Amino acid sequence: MTMHNEQERQTTVHPSLLTQLPPEFFWGASTSAYQIEGATREDGRGRSIWDDFALIPGKTHLGETGDIADDHYHRVAEDLELMASLGLKAYCFSIAWPRVLPAGIGTVNARGLDFYDRLVDGLLTKGITPVAKLYHWDLPSALQERGGWLNRDTTRAFADYADQVTLRLGDRVSCWITHNEPFCTSYLGHVLGIHAPGLTNPQTGINVSHNVLLSHGLAVPRIRANTPPDAKVGIALDYYPVYGVDNSPETVSAMEQADAFRNRWFFDPVFKGQYPDQLFSCLGVTPPPMCEGDLDIISTPIDFLGLNYYSRWTVRRLNDEQNVKKEHANQIYEQITDLAGAPVTEMNWEVFPQGLFDALERIQRDYAPPAIFITENGAAFPDIWDSSSSIHDAQRTAYLCDHIQSVGRAVAEGIPVQGYFVWSLLDNYEWSEGYSKRFGLVFIDFATRHRIVKDSGYWYASFIASQK
Ligand code: GCO
Repeated sequence: MTMHNEQERQTTVHPSLLTQLPPEFFWGASTSAYQIEGATREDGRGRSIWDDFALIPGKTHLGETGDIADDHYHRVAEDLELMASLGLKAYCFSIAWPRVLPAGIGTVNARGLDFYDRLVDGLLTKGITPVAKLYHWDLPSALQERGGWLNRDTTRAFADYADQVTLRLGDRVSCWITHNEPFCTSYLGHVLGIHAPGLTNPQTGINVSHNVLLSHGLAVPRIRANTPPDAKVGIALDYYPVYGVDNSPETVSAMEQADAFRNRWFFDPVFKGQYPDQLFSCLGVTPPPMCEGDLDIISTPIDFLGLNYYSRWTVRRLNDEQNVKKEHANQIYEQITDLAGAPVTEMNWEVFPQGLFDALERIQRDYAPPAIFITENGAAFPDIWDSSSSIHDAQRTAYLCDHIQSVGRAVAEGIPVQGYFVWSLLDNYEWSEGYSKRFGLVFIDFATRHRIVKDSGYWYASFIASQK
């Protein structure tokens, strides 16, 4: 679809699709600490693995780091005003572990927790529900020096961190997410090496994933102990529905392997207390070291799934003659990335709103979480700013409108979606892509950190207002 058509197309969500949303449906936006806060050496914050990783030559776009990012740490009041002006009902943010516990364990840095205390009080004052993530990839460097997520001690350190944070904020924050996308922590960070800490060993990735999941299970009861009985605890998992180029048995088996790797690796342990068959053989690894009862802890009941949805995978069967670069030792699928003709974002992710509906249907069928929040959905497009006061991002508005339609269809089918959070509130640090990819409802001029609400932000505000 060309830009011109985007300008003309209707961007109204079909009202009939929204009549069955629960009354307290969270229309929100999401961010994460390292991507927006900056102030990485301020008020006692310790170093994180992303502070270290971003300094490794060649690891990030132009060597960019999160040292300043959106300077949110100093602009909280301004950003709270922005959220209120958009009429957000909820805001999903992450807490930086190294700001709270600079050494990862031990003495709490009061100034670090004070920052989140002010943020939470500011949100509540504006009638915006805080949804707090305890981990969005910024492990304290001091823990990495002891092995990081490969060290089982880190699982207990995470639970202790969760205890400290919820002791302070649990009286006012009633929606908690333990981890964001453990797939990225485990695979991008420990197998592909394109995220912090930049390791490249499949067995390490599997062993890390087990400890990250175990830390989730250990943290849940600690959070519950410090929050009211009606507080909700969950985990945010990314999910890519897998489609095939045809329905042949060969393609179906390729789809099954891709789905086991990309989705079931984390959904199955959390919701079924087991790892999917063929995961370890696909990766060419052995099961992770685990103790009796680990999987029971990992699959401790939670109140909601945070679902991060961006796009789908389409795969074909790999045959041995094809000299495709395999990511896994015994890979039989090839993900099709040459999406000739399909609409794609700046990340080369196919725009496929149907995939969100299909994802919700499958998750409801196979995992049946008590509730689902779409904790991330959004797109990077080439936003152009001509120094005027507006940014015309019709593609993003169309993307959001179409995906909200899919949410409405899912709710109409009885799937318990209770919130939708746009990724992201602000343009921000897109990890190894640095500041080159813009996902925000609000444009950031990174020369001045000046904020400019994009057309999609105004559209989202008017849509939320229409949902009263
Ligand atoms: C993720 C992370 C976000 C990203 C966003 C765009 O899902 O990868 O949670 O930090 O910035 O998804 O890639």
